[in-house]
Amino acid sequence: MSKVVYKKVVATVSAAILAFSLSACGGGSQETGSSNNSSSPAPAPASSPASSGGGGSEAPLIVKFSHVGTPDSPKGQGADKFKEVLEAKSGGKIKVEVFPSSQLYGDNEEQEQLLAGNVQIINPSMTKLVKFNPSFQIVDMPFLFKSEEAFYKFWDSEMGEKMFAKIEPNGFKSLGVWGGGAKSFTNNKRPLITPEDFKGLKFRIQAGKVLEAQFKYLNASGVTIPFSEVYTALQQGTVDGQENMMNNIDTQKYVEVQKYLTLSEHGRLDYAVLTSKMWWDTLTADQQTMIQEAMDEATAFERSIAKGLSDGSFKKFKDEGRYEIYEMTEADKDKFREALKPMYDEFTPLIGQEFIDYARTLE
Ligand code: LMR
Repeated sequence: MSKVVYKKVVATVSAAILAFSLSACGGGSQETGSSNNSSSPAPAPASSPASSGGGGSEAPLIVKFSHVGTPDSPKGQGADKFKEVLEAKSGGKIKVEVFPSSQLYGDNEEQEQLLAGNVQIINPSMTKLVKFNPSFQIVDMPFLFKSEEAFYKFWDSEMGEKMFAKIEPNGFKSLGVWGGGAKSFTNNKRPLITPEDFKGLKFRIQAGKVLEAQFKYLNASGVTIPFSEVYTALQQGTVDGQENMMNNIDTQKYVEVQKYLTLSEHGRLDYAVLTSKMWWDTLTADQQTMIQEAMDEATAFERSIAKGLSDGSFKKFKDEGRYEIYEMTEADKDKFREALKPMYDEFTPLIGQEFIDYARTLE
C-alpha cells in the first residue's frame, strides 16, 4: 500500500475498521504469527510463536516499542527499563526492540500502526489521543492539575480507568501512565510575562482544539506539528515558539533555536502507555502477566525520574545562561487563569464535567 493511499485510509476510516483492514492487507507474507483469536486478523510480524508460551527452542516473542522521545528523556529511559526488566523476567523468551526518536513511527502514524499490529507498544502524550477521544485533552486545561501527585492520582483512579475505557472500542489497551512534566513556553520574539505578550505569536502545538483555543484566547495562534519536526520549524521561523515539559525542551536542544524561556507550568505533558487489544489477545496468560509486571516496574521507575529530569534541565538552563528566563509568580499565573477562563466554559462539556470536577479536588 503506498504511503499516500495509506494516509488517506487513516484519515477516512474509523480506527477499528482501520486496524482490521491494515492488518489484513498490510502485513504481507510476514504475517504468519499465530493467533489464539481466530475471529481477529493476526497482527503483523510482532512475534514468532506469540501464543505458544515458548519452549526452549522456540524463537523469542518480539515486542516492538516505538516512541518519539530521545533515549535519555523520561519516556526513553522508561522504555529501556521495560526492555531490561522484561527480557530478564522472561529468561530471553521475550525480546523488546525499542525505537526512540520517531525512528520507526512519529506522531502522525504511531497510533494507527499500533492498531495495525506493526508495533506492539507506544507511549504518546495524552493530548495526541484526541483523535480517538476528546476527553484526553484534560491534560491541557490550564492550571487544572495542581501538582505531579494530583496528576498521577487522577490517572490511577477510577476516573482514569473510565477515561481509558473510552478508547478500548478503538482497539487500545492501556498498560500504564507515565510522567512527562508540567509545560512551559519558549519563543524567539520576546519574554513572555503577561497574556498580552503572546499577541500575534505563532506556537507549535501537539494536537487538538483545546491547545488551539489556549493560544486563541491569548490572541496568538497554534499550529499542529509532529514532535520530530519542531526543531526545524523553530529554526526556520515557521513558528515563533512552542510549549513543552522542561526535559523535552532540553533533550530536543531548542536552546539552539529559541531565545526566551518562561517557566509557566500551565498544563501537563504526560504519557499513555498503550498496546493493542488485538495483539494482547494473541498472548498467553503467562506472557501477559510478565509484560504487565515488567511494565509496572518500568512505570514506577519512569515516574520516579520524570520530575527530577525536568528540574535538572531547568537548573542547567539557569546555570548555562543561554536562555533569557522568566519564572512566573502566582500573581502572573492568576492573569493567565483569568485570560484562559473561557476555555472551561467552552471545553468542559466536551471533556466531561465529572473529569474536570474530580481533577480539581486533587492536591
Ligand atoms: C510533544 O509532541 O511535544 C511531546 O508529546 C513529545 C513527547 O514527549 O512525547
